[in-house]
Formats: sequence, C-alpha cells, structure tokens
Amino acid sequence: MLSKEDNQLLTQTGAGTPMGDMFRRYWIPALRSEELESDGKPQRVRLLGEDLVAFRDTEGKVGLIDERCPHRGTSLYYGINADCGIRCMYHGWKFDTEGNCTEIPSEPTDGKFRQSIKLKKYPVKEVSGIIWTYMGPEEKMPPFPEFYWMGLPEESKLVERVWQECNYAQAMENDLDFVHAAFLHKAHMEQSVKEGILSSDLGIDPNHPLVKNPPVKQSVQDTNYGKRCIAVGIGTEEENAFMEIHYIFPFYTYPPRFGGEDGMWHAFIPRDDHSTWTWDVQFTHKGTIDVQAQHERRGLDLDENYRKKISMENEYGQDRELQKTGNFTGIRGIANQDHAATETMGTIVDRTRERLGTSDVPIIHMRRLLLTQAKAFRDGKDPMPLDNESLQTLYSDGLYDDNKKTWQEAFPMKEQFEPRKKVGQ
Ligand code: FES
Ligand SMILES: [Fe+2]
Repeated sequence: MLSKEDNQLLTQTGAGTPMGDMFRRYWIPALRSEELESDGKPQRVRLLGEDLVAFRDTEGKVGLIDERCPHRGTSLYYGINADCGIRCMYHGWKFDTEGNCTEIPSEPTDGKFRQSIKLKKYPVKEVSGIIWTYMGPEEKMPPFPEFYWMGLPEESKLVERVWQECNYAQAMENDLDFVHAAFLHKAHMEQSVKEGILSSDLGIDPNHPLVKNPPVKQSVQDTNYGKRCIAVGIGTEEENAFMEIHYIFPFYTYPPRFGGEDGMWHAFIPRDDHSTWTWDVQFTHKGTIDVQAQHERRGLDLDENYRKKISMENEYGQDRELQKTGNFTGIRGIANQDHAATETMGTIVDRTRERLGTSDVPIIHMRRLLLTQAKAFRDGKDPMPLDNESLQTLYSDGLYDDNKKTWQEAFPMKEQFEPRKKVGQ
C-alpha cells in the first residue's frame, strides 16, 4: 500500500515532476529505426507527456522535435519532409534536425527574426535498430547504456514497441511479479513450441517452473544496476528451480528465463501518465531468432499507431469456452494476457487500497527504490548512475540445482553486480 502522495510521486512523469525530471536523466527508446525513411513520412511520438515529431532528413539524420510549429502552433507531423528539413504546411517555415529555422518564406526578409526562432529538439542516437533520446539537461547527459543484447547480431533480435493503456509503474510491476505467470499465463496442458520459445499463444506449460510453483520463495538483492529478484521453486524431485528477474533502474527489466530459452528485455517508457510505450527485445544468445514464433506467442496485433486491436474495447477477445479447456484466462497471446491484467486496473491504480502479500515483495522493493531516488532527486541529488560494465553482461538466467542448496549457494549474484561501496567504507 502507498499513501496518496507516494502514489502520485510514483506515477506522475510530466515535465516538472520529480519522477518525470528524474526519468529525463536517462536514455529512452523513442521509436524503431525502420519507422523513419529519408524524406519520408514523419512519425508522431508522445513521450513523458510531450508531443514530439520524428523525421529522417535527406542525409539520413533523425530529428526529434516539438510537434507544434513555433509560429502559430500547427502540427509539424503534417509538414513536408524534403531537402534536409521539415516544412510547416501552414506558412512554410522550415526546420532542420537540430531545430534551427532554415527558411521563413512568409516574411519579407530573412534575417535576425529567423535566426531567433528555435524549435525544441532532443538529441538522438540510433543503436540496435532503435532511435534513443535523452530529454534531460545537456550538461547532465549520462553515458549511453550498453545492454547485453546490443552486442548480439541483428538476426538474433526482435524489437517491438506497443502502446499499453496504463501508467508505466503498473505495467512494470507486472514484470517483477514471478507468481502471476502461474495463473495469468497458465496453459491447461503441455504446449508444442519450438526450441527456445517459452510458450505458445495459449500460455506456458503447467510443468514449467514458472507455472508449477505458486507460491515461490522470494528474495531481493541490491545491485549496482537496481534490484536482483530471486525465486526458488520446485524443479524435479531432487532439484529446485532457481529463477531471477533483473530490475534495472529506472524503467528496464529482464523477465525470468532459463538456459536455452530466448531472452527478453523490456523498457516501460511513460507515453504520459495514463499510457506507456512498452518495449520488448526478444533475443537468442546464439543463431537466429524465430520472429514468427515469437510474434505468435505474444499475440499482439497492432494498428499503425502501435495501439492494440485486441484491447479492453473488445474484452481482449476473451473466450469463456477456451478458459475452460485451454488456459487460465481464455485470452490468447502472452502479451495480451499481461495487458488485460494491468489495464483493467484503471490507467492509474489506486495503491492506497491494495493489499500486498509476500508474492509482491519484488514490487515493494522496486517502488521503494524509485520513491527514495525521486525524493533525493527532488532534494537536489543526482539519480543513480548505470554501470556499463554491468549492463554489458547482464541478462536473466534460471537453473536447476540440488534442492538441499540455498539460493545463495546455487545461484549467487556475480561479484561484478555488487552495489557500489559508499565512499569511506
Ligand atoms: S504555423 Fe507553422 S509556419 Fe505558420
Ligand atoms: Fe506476464
């Protein structure tokens, strides 16, 4: 349970809010590289409550700029992207990717007035098929985060983004919830899946340790990137299943996976306080990712704005017959199941009314870290830095081992992820 004030602090991410300004101190995935063509159609992208437009100019450079033209406010999304700039359709003012006004044809002279016009723009970096941005003060820009999957070849990865209709925090809490898989994602019988694929679109096998083991024993460790959440369940007669989730501050996760299964990385970027850009990178450690099998498993069907066609409006396609015979929810697609659980809470869940149990321990730790950091940030402290040496080798990996062993013996944290020692210790 949170106080009303803490729930607001956790969920409000607009400019000028402590959480929103703290989030602006980290690199954010904004859109996929393939969404923009040179001199092609611009894309609208709302991030942290700000309406922005992205375009790729004649030379291939990407601009991420304010959607509103600084003249009288017409949307630049409707503008003309050609000859190294985007031109407003209303009076023809033209802007380059840096936000400079390069032409002002509605004025008799082209001089000081034009030079004084500056459009809000954010720096971008294209890495691993994603256009990333940094929306904070220039002098505070952190090093670019080097996640493990960025080092894998392109054919080993699948990148998706989807508009999730709830606040970022409740979307992310779902990822730190080991136990939900045993219900929400449970298929009633064994599923036939390709090697490395966790589930079918119906859900996860009843015998997979993620499903077989409610309730698991859970622990949470402090690390130099955020939190490592550990769960211990029954594997076989003599072995336990040891699982982990990584929470990377402030809005990235690696959900639990076992050796041999394709990995998954998520980012939960507030679109605004009532919706989230949920990013999925599926990756295989070796070889080529099976794009079709992963798409089917997740079951998302999106329109051109990355909104789901299977949504609350059509009750997520829930089939009550399927619920009796096929899976726990009667909903197809692992991602649809997650979205149905988190969106039906309302876009910002009232955390003053919740009743948390032991299964919610990782969520409690994540919230505490976010709130502590946001409060310290509000008091003038810099937020926690991310350590690229850790990020380069970090991903989730589960294993089976002797059930006489503790998780500390069977599945200890690697030394390099230990929290930084405070000065003087
Ligand atoms: S509103 Fe854009 S040029 Fe006038
Ligand atoms: Fe899930």
